[in-house]
Amino acid sequence: MLSSLSRAVVRASKPMQQHVKFMHRTAPIASDHLFVHRDTPENNSDTKFEFSSENLKRLNDIMANYPEGHKAAAVIPALDLAQRQHGWLPISAMHKVAEILNMPKMRVYEVATFYTMFNREPIGKFHVQVCTTTPCMLCNAREILKAIEDNLKIKCGETTKDKMFTLTEVECLGACVNAPMVQINDNYYEDLKVSDINEILDDLKAGKSPKPGPRSGRFACEPINGLTSLTEPPKGPGFGVREDL
Ligand code: FES
Repeated sequence: MLSSLSRAVVRASKPMQQHVKFMHRTAPIASDHLFVHRDTPENNSDTKFEFSSENLKRLNDIMANYPEGHKAAAVIPALDLAQRQHGWLPISAMHKVAEILNMPKMRVYEVATFYTMFNREPIGKFHVQVCTTTPCMLCNAREILKAIEDNLKIKCGETTKDKMFTLTEVECLGACVNAPMVQINDNYYEDLKVSDINEILDDLKAGKSPKPGPRSGRFACEPINGLTSLTEPPKGPGFGVREDL
């Protein structure tokens, strides 16, 4: 006869309806999402990449923030600048960053392969990143993800045939108070319902610029039903400490 504790353990170990995240199921098993680089016709050491004169000036300004001998600390903003200029980050851009920062190429690869915000393969014009971490998941992020897949007719990790949209599932983007949320390029779209995300995607398809931010009517991340604390001016230092205050 099972004790009540054993029964609880058996219940807990029964398979639940599972959502295996994109980032957890691709890297080790899918050859087209390897974390290592494989030369392709569009991504190899000879892929044309030079910083524009404007971005070179920006990069020099960034490097000026770091003391002599520590210029390699600028590697993340340098890679970001390269990616913004090119649309994604070819290996030749990594080499250019290594050359400018005077650091071994391997050190640049280490950074570019560690941070998922560096896109080492071409992506669409709009990079749709859906947060499915716990707070967003509890607020129906999976419904939002499904709505995007249905709208764009692609799955996570894919790009639409017209190269307009790439869909990615990501971990927390730091806007949990406004869950569920989606990042599209540099913009956050928050407090989303299925109808909101469809409207946003349809606007982008139509060449419009949907307004970023919460869709619930609130300005930012303030309580949606009005303030519940700090509702009056602070009393000032010493309040309640001395009898005459
Ligand atoms: S959990 Fe989605 S933004 Fe934090």
